[in-house]
Amino acid sequence: MIRNVAIMGATGAVGQELLKILEQRNFPLQNLKLLASERSVGREYDFKGEKLKVELTCPDAFKGVDLVLSSAGASVSKEFAPIAVEHGAVVVDNTSFFRMDEKVPLVVPEVNACDIPLYKAENGGKGIIANPNCTTIMMVVALKPLNAISKIKRVHVATYQSASGAGATGMAELKQQYQEIVEGKPVTVKKFAHQLAYNLIPHIDVFTDNDYTKEEMKMFNETRKIMHSDVACSATCVRVSALRCHSEALWIETEKPISVEEARKAIAAGEGLTLFDDPANNGYPMPLDLMGKDDVYVGRIRKDLANENGLNFWLVGDQIRKGAALNAVQIAEKL
Ligand code: A2P
Repeated sequence: MIRNVAIMGATGAVGQELLKILEQRNFPLQNLKLLASERSVGREYDFKGEKLKVELTCPDAFKGVDLVLSSAGASVSKEFAPIAVEHGAVVVDNTSFFRMDEKVPLVVPEVNACDIPLYKAENGGKGIIANPNCTTIMMVVALKPLNAISKIKRVHVATYQSASGAGATGMAELKQQYQEIVEGKPVTVKKFAHQLAYNLIPHIDVFTDNDYTKEEMKMFNETRKIMHSDVACSATCVRVSALRCHSEALWIETEKPISVEEARKAIAAGEGLTLFDDPANNGYPMPLDLMGKDDVYVGRIRKDLANENGLNFWLVGDQIRKGAALNAVQIAEKL
Protein backbone atom coordinates (compact mmCIF):
# COMPACT_ATOMS: atom_id res chain seq x y z
CA MET A 1 0.00 0.00 0.00
CA ILE A 2 1.46 3.37 -1.02
CA ARG A 3 0.86 6.05 1.61
CA ASN A 4 4.00 8.15 1.82
CA VAL A 5 5.42 9.53 -1.42
CA ALA A 6 8.59 11.55 -1.98
CA ILE A 7 9.55 13.55 -5.05
CA MET A 8 13.34 13.67 -5.35
CA GLY A 9 14.28 16.68 -7.49
CA ALA A 10 10.99 18.40 -6.58
CA THR A 11 12.14 21.90 -7.58
CA GLY A 12 13.14 20.93 -11.15
CA ALA A 13 11.05 21.04 -14.33
CA VAL A 14 9.96 17.40 -14.05
CA GLY A 15 9.63 17.57 -10.24
CA GLN A 16 7.24 20.51 -10.53
CA GLU A 17 5.18 18.67 -13.14
CA LEU A 18 5.07 15.59 -10.89
CA LEU A 19 3.59 17.77 -8.16
CA LYS A 20 0.88 19.06 -10.55
CA ILE A 21 0.05 15.62 -11.95
CA LEU A 22 -0.25 13.96 -8.52
CA GLU A 23 -2.78 16.66 -7.63
CA GLN A 24 -4.62 16.66 -10.99
CA ARG A 25 -5.01 12.87 -11.01
CA ASN A 26 -5.81 12.76 -7.29
CA PHE A 27 -3.13 10.16 -6.73
CA PRO A 28 -4.06 8.23 -3.57
CA LEU A 29 -1.38 9.30 -1.07
CA GLN A 30 -1.40 10.43 2.55
CA ASN A 31 1.89 12.33 2.81
CA LEU A 32 4.02 13.97 0.17
CA LYS A 33 7.65 14.91 0.79
CA LEU A 34 9.54 17.30 -1.46
CA LEU A 35 13.29 16.69 -1.70
CA ALA A 36 15.96 18.73 -3.46
CA SER A 37 19.48 20.02 -2.89
CA GLU A 38 20.69 22.33 -0.11
CA ARG A 39 20.01 25.28 -2.44
CA SER A 40 16.25 24.82 -2.13
CA VAL A 41 15.73 23.65 1.45
CA GLY A 42 12.82 25.54 3.06
CA ARG A 43 11.30 26.71 -0.24
CA GLU A 44 7.50 26.21 -0.20
CA TYR A 45 5.14 24.77 -2.82
CA ASP A 46 1.36 24.33 -2.78
CA PHE A 47 -0.13 20.85 -2.93
CA LYS A 48 -3.89 20.33 -2.55
CA GLY A 49 -4.27 23.59 -0.63
CA GLU A 50 -1.38 22.87 1.73
CA LYS A 51 2.09 24.42 1.78
CA LEU A 52 4.88 21.83 1.62
CA LYS A 53 8.46 22.75 2.50
CA VAL A 54 11.40 21.37 0.52
CA GLU A 55 13.69 19.10 2.56
CA LEU A 56 17.28 18.04 1.97
CA THR A 57 17.93 14.83 0.01
CA CYS A 58 19.79 12.71 2.57
CA PRO A 59 19.55 9.06 3.71
CA ASP A 60 17.22 9.79 6.63
CA ALA A 61 14.76 11.58 4.34
CA PHE A 62 13.61 8.20 3.00
CA LYS A 63 12.53 6.74 6.35
CA GLY A 64 8.90 5.64 6.12
CA VAL A 65 8.63 6.53 2.41
CA ASP A 66 6.75 3.95 0.27
CA LEU A 67 7.30 5.46 -3.18
CA VAL A 68 10.01 7.76 -4.55
CA LEU A 69 9.48 9.57 -7.83
CA SER A 70 12.98 10.58 -8.69
CA SER A 71 14.16 13.23 -11.14
CA ALA A 72 17.29 14.85 -9.74
CA GLY A 73 19.89 13.60 -12.22
CA ALA A 74 21.76 10.31 -12.69
CA SER A 75 24.37 10.81 -9.97
CA VAL A 76 21.72 11.62 -7.33
CA SER A 77 19.71 8.52 -8.35
CA LYS A 78 22.84 6.37 -8.28
CA GLU A 79 23.51 7.44 -4.71
CA PHE A 80 20.03 7.65 -3.22
CA ALA A 81 17.78 5.16 -5.08
CA PRO A 82 19.39 2.12 -3.37
CA ILE A 83 19.13 3.89 0.01
CA ALA A 84 15.43 4.55 -0.57
CA VAL A 85 14.94 0.86 -1.47
CA GLU A 86 16.77 -0.18 1.75
CA HIS A 87 14.23 1.91 3.62
CA GLY A 88 11.44 -0.09 1.96
CA ALA A 89 10.45 2.27 -0.87
CA VAL A 90 9.81 1.50 -4.55
CA VAL A 91 11.70 3.97 -6.76
CA VAL A 92 10.36 5.14 -10.13
CA ASP A 93 13.45 6.73 -11.59
CA ASN A 94 13.40 9.32 -14.37
CA THR A 95 17.14 9.37 -14.98
CA SER A 96 19.17 7.25 -17.39
CA PHE A 97 21.20 5.61 -14.62
CA PHE A 98 19.31 2.29 -14.20
CA ARG A 99 17.56 2.05 -17.56
CA MET A 100 19.65 -0.66 -19.17
CA ASP A 101 20.21 -2.60 -15.93
CA GLU A 102 18.85 -6.14 -16.51
CA LYS A 103 17.38 -6.14 -13.01
CA VAL A 104 15.43 -2.94 -13.61
CA PRO A 105 12.28 -2.94 -15.77
CA LEU A 106 12.04 -0.04 -18.24
CA VAL A 107 8.38 0.81 -18.59
CA VAL A 108 5.94 2.73 -20.75
CA PRO A 109 2.55 1.58 -19.38
CA GLU A 110 0.80 1.67 -22.79
CA VAL A 111 3.45 -0.70 -24.18
CA ASN A 112 4.89 -2.98 -21.47
CA ALA A 113 3.00 -2.60 -18.20
CA CYS A 114 3.51 -6.39 -17.96
CA ASP A 115 7.18 -5.73 -17.02
CA ILE A 116 6.33 -3.72 -13.88
CA PRO A 117 6.35 -6.71 -11.46
CA LEU A 118 10.00 -7.38 -12.40
CA TYR A 119 11.04 -4.62 -9.97
CA LYS A 120 10.27 -6.92 -7.01
CA ALA A 121 13.13 -8.76 -5.28
CA GLU A 122 11.17 -12.04 -5.53
CA ASN A 123 11.22 -11.59 -9.34
CA GLY A 124 14.93 -10.75 -9.44
CA GLY A 125 14.47 -6.97 -9.28
CA LYS A 126 16.17 -4.19 -7.32
CA GLY A 127 13.06 -2.34 -6.14
CA ILE A 128 13.56 0.19 -8.94
CA ILE A 129 11.52 0.85 -12.10
CA ALA A 130 13.09 3.05 -14.76
CA ASN A 131 11.24 5.67 -16.76
CA PRO A 132 12.64 5.71 -20.31
CA ASN A 133 14.20 8.58 -22.24
CA CYS A 134 11.60 11.17 -23.26
CA THR A 135 11.87 10.81 -27.05
CA THR A 136 11.81 7.02 -26.72
CA ILE A 137 8.65 7.07 -24.58
CA MET A 138 6.76 9.18 -27.13
CA MET A 139 8.02 7.10 -30.06
CA VAL A 140 7.12 3.67 -28.61
CA VAL A 141 3.59 4.82 -27.71
CA ALA A 142 3.08 5.50 -31.44
CA LEU A 143 4.95 2.38 -32.62
CA LYS A 144 2.91 0.01 -30.43
CA PRO A 145 -0.34 -0.14 -32.48
CA LEU A 146 1.54 -0.18 -35.78
CA ASN A 147 3.76 -3.05 -34.61
CA ALA A 148 0.57 -4.96 -33.80
CA ILE A 149 -0.43 -4.78 -37.49
CA SER A 150 2.96 -5.82 -38.82
CA LYS A 151 6.30 -6.17 -37.01
CA ILE A 152 8.44 -3.07 -37.29
CA LYS A 153 11.92 -4.00 -38.52
CA ARG A 154 13.60 -0.63 -38.77
CA VAL A 155 13.01 2.92 -37.59
CA HIS A 156 14.77 6.03 -38.79
CA VAL A 157 13.98 9.05 -36.69
CA ALA A 158 15.00 12.71 -36.54
CA THR A 159 14.04 14.46 -33.31
CA TYR A 160 13.34 18.13 -32.72
CA GLN A 161 13.81 18.49 -28.96
CA SER A 162 12.87 21.63 -27.08
CA ALA A 163 14.82 23.45 -24.37
CA SER A 164 12.68 21.81 -21.67
CA GLY A 165 14.60 18.57 -22.26
CA ALA A 166 17.51 20.27 -20.48
CA GLY A 167 15.35 21.01 -17.42
CA ALA A 168 14.24 24.25 -15.83
CA THR A 169 17.68 25.78 -16.31
CA GLY A 170 17.59 24.90 -20.03
CA MET A 171 14.30 26.74 -20.51
CA ALA A 172 15.60 29.71 -18.49
CA GLU A 173 18.73 29.87 -20.65
CA LEU A 174 16.73 29.92 -23.90
CA LYS A 175 14.51 32.77 -22.62
CA GLN A 176 17.56 34.65 -21.35
CA GLN A 177 19.30 34.30 -24.73
CA TYR A 178 16.33 35.83 -26.62
CA GLN A 179 16.19 38.65 -24.06
CA GLU A 180 19.93 39.32 -24.39
CA ILE A 181 19.66 39.37 -28.20
CA VAL A 182 16.80 41.92 -28.03
CA GLU A 183 18.84 44.07 -25.64
CA GLY A 184 22.02 43.81 -27.77
CA LYS A 185 23.95 42.12 -24.94
CA PRO A 186 26.43 39.23 -25.25
CA VAL A 187 24.57 35.91 -25.25
CA THR A 188 25.03 33.60 -22.24
CA VAL A 189 25.80 29.99 -23.25
CA LYS A 190 26.08 27.55 -20.33
CA LYS A 191 23.59 24.72 -20.55
CA PHE A 192 23.86 23.96 -24.28
CA ALA A 193 27.01 23.47 -26.38
CA HIS A 194 26.14 26.55 -28.50
CA GLN A 195 23.66 29.44 -28.58
CA LEU A 196 20.19 27.86 -28.97
CA ALA A 197 18.16 31.00 -29.69
CA TYR A 198 17.62 31.26 -33.48
CA ASN A 199 19.55 28.01 -33.85
CA LEU A 200 19.41 24.18 -34.12
CA ILE A 201 22.05 22.07 -32.35
CA PRO A 202 22.46 18.48 -33.69
CA HIS A 203 23.94 17.30 -30.40
CA ILE A 204 22.08 16.07 -27.28
CA ASP A 205 24.04 14.38 -24.48
CA VAL A 206 27.66 13.34 -25.06
CA PHE A 207 29.14 11.71 -28.17
CA THR A 208 29.92 7.96 -28.00
CA ASP A 209 32.57 5.88 -29.80
CA ASN A 210 30.36 5.21 -32.85
CA ASP A 211 29.80 8.98 -33.45
CA TYR A 212 26.17 8.77 -32.31
CA THR A 213 25.29 10.72 -29.17
CA LYS A 214 24.20 9.00 -25.98
CA GLU A 215 20.68 10.36 -26.59
CA GLU A 216 20.62 8.67 -30.00
CA MET A 217 21.91 5.39 -28.53
CA LYS A 218 19.22 5.57 -25.82
CA MET A 219 16.62 5.52 -28.62
CA PHE A 220 18.29 2.44 -30.14
CA ASN A 221 18.73 0.44 -26.92
CA GLU A 222 15.68 1.47 -24.89
CA THR A 223 13.24 0.87 -27.77
CA ARG A 224 14.38 -2.77 -27.99
CA LYS A 225 14.10 -3.29 -24.24
CA ILE A 226 10.61 -1.73 -23.95
CA MET A 227 9.17 -3.38 -27.07
CA HIS A 228 10.84 -6.77 -26.43
CA SER A 229 11.97 -6.57 -30.04
CA ASP A 230 15.12 -6.62 -32.18
CA VAL A 231 13.90 -3.50 -34.03
CA ALA A 232 16.82 -1.32 -35.17
CA CYS A 233 16.40 2.39 -34.53
CA SER A 234 18.77 4.92 -36.08
CA ALA A 235 18.29 8.43 -34.68
CA THR A 236 19.54 11.96 -35.19
CA CYS A 237 18.64 14.02 -32.12
CA VAL A 238 18.50 17.79 -32.54
CA ARG A 239 17.94 20.51 -29.94
CA VAL A 240 15.62 23.20 -31.33
CA SER A 241 14.62 26.58 -29.98
CA ALA A 242 11.07 25.55 -29.02
CA LEU A 243 10.50 26.01 -25.28
CA ARG A 244 8.53 22.87 -24.47
CA CYS A 245 7.34 19.69 -26.32
CA HIS A 246 9.50 17.41 -28.41
CA SER A 247 8.73 16.52 -32.03
CA GLU A 248 9.89 13.57 -34.12
CA ALA A 249 9.89 12.73 -37.84
CA LEU A 250 9.79 8.95 -38.30
CA TRP A 251 10.36 6.53 -41.17
CA ILE A 252 9.41 2.98 -40.24
CA GLU A 253 9.83 -0.25 -42.20
CA THR A 254 7.46 -3.11 -41.41
CA GLU A 255 7.54 -6.80 -42.45
CA LYS A 256 4.36 -6.33 -44.48
CA PRO A 257 3.21 -2.98 -45.91
CA ILE A 258 0.75 -0.97 -43.78
CA SER A 259 -1.61 1.33 -45.67
CA VAL A 260 -2.11 4.93 -44.62
CA GLU A 261 -5.74 4.16 -43.78
CA GLU A 262 -4.79 1.22 -41.55
CA ALA A 263 -2.17 3.34 -39.80
CA ARG A 264 -4.60 6.22 -39.22
CA LYS A 265 -7.17 3.84 -37.75
CA ALA A 266 -4.62 2.16 -35.47
CA ILE A 267 -3.21 5.48 -34.22
CA ALA A 268 -6.70 6.90 -33.62
CA ALA A 269 -7.58 3.85 -31.50
CA GLY A 270 -4.16 3.58 -29.79
CA GLU A 271 -3.78 4.12 -26.05
CA GLY A 272 -2.23 7.48 -25.17
CA LEU A 273 -2.45 8.68 -28.77
CA THR A 274 -4.40 11.37 -30.61
CA LEU A 275 -4.55 11.37 -34.39
CA PHE A 276 -4.32 14.90 -35.79
CA ASP A 277 -3.80 14.43 -39.51
CA ASP A 278 -5.72 16.98 -41.54
CA PRO A 279 -3.36 18.36 -44.20
CA ALA A 280 -6.22 19.90 -46.21
CA ASN A 281 -6.78 22.33 -43.33
CA ASN A 282 -3.12 22.73 -42.33
CA GLY A 283 -3.85 20.39 -39.41
CA TYR A 284 -0.85 18.64 -37.85
CA PRO A 285 0.69 18.53 -34.37
CA MET A 286 2.98 21.41 -33.35
CA PRO A 287 4.85 22.00 -30.07
CA LEU A 288 3.31 25.40 -29.41
CA ASP A 289 -0.19 23.91 -29.32
CA LEU A 290 0.51 20.85 -27.19
CA MET A 291 2.16 22.16 -24.02
CA GLY A 292 0.52 20.55 -20.98
CA LYS A 293 -1.26 17.83 -22.99
CA ASP A 294 -1.03 14.18 -21.94
CA ASP A 295 -1.29 12.34 -25.27
CA VAL A 296 1.26 11.89 -28.02
CA TYR A 297 -0.17 13.55 -31.15
CA VAL A 298 0.46 12.00 -34.57
CA GLY A 299 0.00 13.49 -38.04
CA ARG A 300 1.51 13.69 -41.55
CA ILE A 301 1.01 9.92 -42.02
CA ARG A 302 2.01 8.91 -45.55
CA LYS A 303 3.67 6.15 -47.56
CA ASP A 304 7.46 6.23 -47.73
CA LEU A 305 8.35 7.05 -51.34
CA ALA A 306 11.73 5.34 -50.89
CA ASN A 307 10.52 2.04 -49.37
CA GLU A 308 7.55 -0.19 -50.35
CA ASN A 309 7.17 -1.40 -46.76
CA GLY A 310 7.72 2.04 -45.33
CA LEU A 311 5.51 4.57 -43.61
CA ASN A 312 6.38 8.13 -42.60
CA PHE A 313 4.79 10.18 -39.87
CA TRP A 314 5.30 13.07 -37.47
CA LEU A 315 4.61 13.17 -33.74
CA VAL A 316 4.65 15.75 -30.97
CA GLY A 317 4.34 15.26 -27.22
CA ASP A 318 4.93 17.24 -24.07
CA GLN A 319 8.27 15.88 -22.96
CA ILE A 320 7.83 17.03 -19.35
CA ARG A 321 4.45 15.25 -19.11
CA LYS A 322 4.29 12.02 -21.19
CA GLY A 323 8.05 12.12 -21.77
CA ALA A 324 8.76 12.15 -18.02
CA ALA A 325 6.41 13.07 -15.15
CA LEU A 326 3.14 11.63 -16.48
CA ASN A 327 4.75 8.34 -17.48
CA ALA A 328 6.23 8.04 -13.97
CA VAL A 329 2.86 8.69 -12.30
CA GLN A 330 1.15 6.22 -14.66
CA ILE A 331 3.68 3.59 -13.56
CA ALA A 332 2.99 4.48 -9.90
CA GLU A 333 -0.76 4.15 -10.53
CA LYS A 334 -0.21 0.63 -11.84
CA LEU A 335 1.72 -0.14 -8.63
P1 A2P B 1 17.78 22.23 -6.71
O1 A2P B 1 16.71 23.07 -7.33
O2 A2P B 1 17.83 22.36 -5.22
O3 A2P B 1 19.11 22.39 -7.38
P2 A2P B 1 16.18 20.27 -13.56
O4 A2P B 1 16.41 18.97 -14.28
O5 A2P B 1 14.91 20.94 -13.96
O6 A2P B 1 17.38 21.16 -13.64
O7 A2P B 1 15.99 19.87 -11.98
C1 A2P B 1 16.97 19.14 -11.26
C2 A2P B 1 16.41 18.79 -9.88
O8 A2P B 1 17.40 17.99 -9.20
C3 A2P B 1 16.17 19.99 -8.98
O9 A2P B 1 15.08 19.73 -8.13
C4 A2P B 1 17.46 20.05 -8.18
O10 A2P B 1 17.33 20.69 -6.92
C5 A2P B 1 17.73 18.59 -7.97
N1 A2P B 1 19.15 18.35 -7.67
C6 A2P B 1 20.21 18.70 -8.42
N2 A2P B 1 21.36 18.32 -7.81
C7 A2P B 1 21.01 17.72 -6.64
C8 A2P B 1 21.74 17.11 -5.57
N3 A2P B 1 23.04 17.05 -5.57
N4 A2P B 1 21.02 16.60 -4.54
C9 A2P B 1 19.68 16.62 -4.53
N5 A2P B 1 18.93 17.19 -5.52
C10 A2P B 1 19.59 17.74 -6.56
